[in-house]
Amino acid sequence: MSCVKVVGKKCIGGTVCAQGCKNSVLPIIAATLLNGGQNIIHNCPRLSDVYAAIDILRALGVNVVFSGNTLIINSEGINSDTIRPDLMKAMRSSVIFLGPMLSRLGEAVISMPGGCDIGKRPIDIHLMAFSKMGISVVCEDGNIRCIKDRLRGEKIFLPKPSVGATENIMLLACKGSGVTTIINAAREPEIIDLQNFLNSMGARIFGAGTSEITIYSVNKLDNSEYTVMPDRIEAATYCCAVAACGGYAEIKNIVPEHIESVLSILEKSGSSVVRYPSSVYISSGNVPQCVSYVSTGPYPAFPTDVQSIIMSVMSLSSGEGVIVENIFENRFGHAQQLKKMGADIRVSDKKAFIRGKKLYGAEVSACDLRSGAALIVAALGSCGETIISNCQYIDRGYEDFEDKFKSLGVDIERMD
Ligand code: EPZ
Repeated sequence: MSCVKVVGKKCIGGTVCAQGCKNSVLPIIAATLLNGGQNIIHNCPRLSDVYAAIDILRALGVNVVFSGNTLIINSEGINSDTIRPDLMKAMRSSVIFLGPMLSRLGEAVISMPGGCDIGKRPIDIHLMAFSKMGISVVCEDGNIRCIKDRLRGEKIFLPKPSVGATENIMLLACKGSGVTTIINAAREPEIIDLQNFLNSMGARIFGAGTSEITIYSVNKLDNSEYTVMPDRIEAATYCCAVAACGGYAEIKNIVPEHIESVLSILEKSGSSVVRYPSSVYISSGNVPQCVSYVSTGPYPAFPTDVQSIIMSVMSLSSGEGVIVENIFENRFGHAQQLKKMGADIRVSDKKAFIRGKKLYGAEVSACDLRSGAALIVAALGSCGETIISNCQYIDRGYEDFEDKFKSLGVDIERMD
């Protein structure tokens, strides 16, 4: 278990460059199974979730070279249709390999995916969609065996705009299955990035970014060389860090419109934000003003992945506010940890009522990827020293986070 120590209540200032997007590169890595050739992925962040995806590929017999931020993946030698349970458990998005494995191999055996404890996180929508498209799904002894009997294009309505289910359907439907339309599809920018990657391989997918996506299947997919989009959640995290403790930051290599919902909230908290074509300049006073209401929702609403992080900012603010978490049923775990720092937070069902006040350094523990980031942000605005344990969670989504925070002038050290 590794920890970080953060000394707070210092204004920060400097420049950080956003990493490649974790939630985009993971489905793109899975997509490289589709054509049995060599695909090159640039701007791939060095994260433990990426290494977990590489472990899955290598266990399937796929050749992977990871040099710098470039992945070279040759899936010609794939020799298994089963993902080991320990590899499935390593992260939630292991389920995203199901679609490409079925497309390529005709059969796939997985078990329930793992991932951060932010809710039940079922995969029923993935399996409903696959069954509708002619996949037989058999659950036995904790395994889920899927067989591509006769893949057919279908019109599929998603009961929830699930990001993962939207991506898995795109991955299964893009080759050899007629025409598939996804209704109520997720609209996240990561879906657009996956569509762009698949179309760079020769797929014919249209509508990503809207709630209706149409996939005209093709018979062949070619090798591709692709650069992953910037990580909008990482970028939003560093913006919140400035709002929490004051100072300024230039966040480079981002798409400002991807985090517009976050930037507008930070402006309400008193930050000033200048939006450039591929960067943002944010500056703040050393105590955030009151943010009265934040409600998470599917893109372009306020992202659930920034909910814990904005709660840290609101806990340090000069007023009272409410956060409504509409996506996951158990994503307030960080509130208990913030209370150890003196935060005044009351959780009731899917709402958190926050009364901002002065916070103090304490010994706290990350319970998931984004709560770990939230505790660093809270520590920046707190008086004294904070020790954050379980920071291996933070390594899942934030490349070189200590160095990046140090480049902003933050007093942060990792202690194993
Ligand atoms: C993706 O998870 C992201 N992960 C999550 O980011 C993000 O929080 C989430 O989308 C929502 O934006 C990756 O992309 C790897 P969903 P995913 O399917 O695909 C329910 C992070 O911190 N649901 O959109 O798993 C589900 O329980 C992570 O980077 C079903 O009920 O999310 C949730 O309540 C955390 N049945 C809601 O839908 C299903 O079959 C949205 O889930 C699938 C989902």
